[in-house]
Amino acid sequence: MQTTMTSLLAADSPTVMTPITPHLHIEAVTKKFGSFTALDIISLTINEGEFVCFLGPSGCGKTTLLRTIAGLSQQTSGKLIQRGIDVSTLPPQARDFGIVFQSYALFPNLTVFNNVAYGLRNRRADRARINYRVTELLALVNLSGSEHKYPAALSGGQQQRVALARALATEPGLLLLDEPLSALDARVRGHLRSQIKALQARLGVTTIMVTHDQEEALTMADRIVVMNHGVIEQVGTPAEIYHQPASAFVASFIGTMNFLDVTVNSADQVTLAAKPLTCQPHHNMPLGETARLAVRPEAIALTQQQQGLSGEVIDIEFLGAFQRVTLRLTGADQTLLADVPSRDSTSLSLYVGQTLGIHIPAEAARLYPVGSDHL
Ligand SMILES: Nc1ncnc2c1ncn2[C@@H]1O[C@H](COP(=O)(O)OP(=O)(O)O)[C@@H](O)[C@H]1O
Ligand SMILES: [Mg+2]
Repeated sequence: MQTTMTSLLAADSPTVMTPITPHLHIEAVTKKFGSFTALDIISLTINEGEFVCFLGPSGCGKTTLLRTIAGLSQQTSGKLIQRGIDVSTLPPQARDFGIVFQSYALFPNLTVFNNVAYGLRNRRADRARINYRVTELLALVNLSGSEHKYPAALSGGQQQRVALARALATEPGLLLLDEPLSALDARVRGHLRSQIKALQARLGVTTIMVTHDQEEALTMADRIVVMNHGVIEQVGTPAEIYHQPASAFVASFIGTMNFLDVTVNSADQVTLAAKPLTCQPHHNMPLGETARLAVRPEAIALTQQQQGLSGEVIDIEFLGAFQRVTLRLTGADQTLLADVPSRDSTSLSLYVGQTLGIHIPAEAARLYPVGSDHL
């Protein structure tokens, strides 16, 4: 079934009003590998109980930042303050976290029970406590009865649930997840996504999840940290990131976005295909110069009326809930995508070759400098 980004966002759970307490301060953390800067002065505060996703393309520094938080990688400069304690130079075993990696890093020679019990045994927990806790955790991840199985006998999704139980066994203050779902097939991934989210909400454990999958971040995170080339591009709720991208990079990385060449006329007006168009007010965009206008396909309305901006339909793609129409703008060598909800498409009786009016609402049109939208 086809889902749109907006329908995913509409499923956002209501915000619960609880006092905000910082859990982790990342203060100007830089990490260099030789002359290469993997993290460039990263500063960020993660609050108690929050579910934060680090989102960005492969190689942008997500894992490096997660490993630095865990003490598995030592920052070149900068500080980490967890619950008021400077943990910057503490070894991993002295820090308060549980971690799950992409690949099922379970001990293959240990049973499910012993995998989950591992951290508790290291801490010399007594037998009764271990039995109680492992039973409780396996129930939590729906794996009661699998205590005596070995990892090889489990599916990928089950192994990740064991890894999750193992990471939570010692009741860490911080749960770190590095692409925990990306090795799983789509159906299992979707299911485990909601399981992890529900589990996190129930336990209230502060969680950081690394992902390169925007849909995963949009559906799971309270806040998303969008990274690119070792820097933070934007921090915001899924709706903020989707509707108010702070940079052309964020606009192009998340969801589908049209970028159109326009000329800047005033603080909130541009010329597109020789027609004036009102957009969101912008700052520091030189008047008379070319800029990039970003607008999402689902924000565009197509009409039978043809004065104003118009275009010729050159392709129609059926995507279930909507049809994605490619139009070539009249009087300009530019194309744009417009999503027409299936229930509206009959009234337009769409066909290739027809000319339609194009309405771009000002609130959905944002300006970015030329050349800044490349991934
Ligand atoms: N141990 C290392 N030595 C040298 N370069 C590294 C090392 N680890 C990561 N890098 C580089 O740092 C960058 C960020 O890597 P990483 O944090 O793994 O990215 P991501 O998790 O976002 O895909 C990449 O360019 C990667 O090649
Ligand atoms: Mg990574």
